[in-house]
Amino acid sequence: MDLKAHIRGIPDFPKPGILFYDISTLLRHGPAWRAAMARLADAIRPHKPDLLAGIESRGFLVAAPLALELGLGFVMLRKPRKLPGLTIGLNYALEYGTDRIEMQADAVTKGQRVVILDDLLATGGTMAAGVSLLRQSGAEVPCAAALIELTFLGGRNRLDVPFESLVAYDE
Ligand code: PRP
Ligand code: MG
Repeated sequence: MDLKAHIRGIPDFPKPGILFYDISTLLRHGPAWRAAMARLADAIRPHKPDLLAGIESRGFLVAAPLALELGLGFVMLRKPRKLPGLTIGLNYALEYGTDRIEMQADAVTKGQRVVILDDLLATGGTMAAGVSLLRQSGAEVPCAAALIELTFLGGRNRLDVPFESLVAYDE
């Protein structure tokens, strides 16, 4: 299965000069989505996760099916003020401005191995924040993974955990 054939690049979205890698075409092709999830499962299984975490929103599309595939639970890292109960959060810098992710304070048991997933790694800022937040919650993070990696942005260099991706773009 050629996964790249199922991902389309849409120019000038969400703003001029940005080439947006759209996974909608992959998601709506059952065998391609299935193959992508099976390959990601193979990539993260050696890291022996106890639990998976996904980053809202497109990261949920990856983490939840993978958790089912691996027979594991799934934790949501969400945009601010979405989760009920006691939460912990982390602010992180974007190219312009800041963003924040939150999780439920009791989502992880201290020492659990939590693999973090997103659809795409660009600058790595979102994933790095997710790793930090999970550690703050008491998790060990043995690996991070995404379907797509924009290698020209060097995001994996911002991560202090092994990073797995299935499809890389160098421009
Ligand atoms: C996109 C993508 C990653 C993040 C990657 O999410 O899904 O989560 O950006 O960028 P970075 O590596 O430079 O931090 P977006 O904020 O567009 O939101 P969405 O997932 O809710 O669509
Ligand atoms: Mg996202």
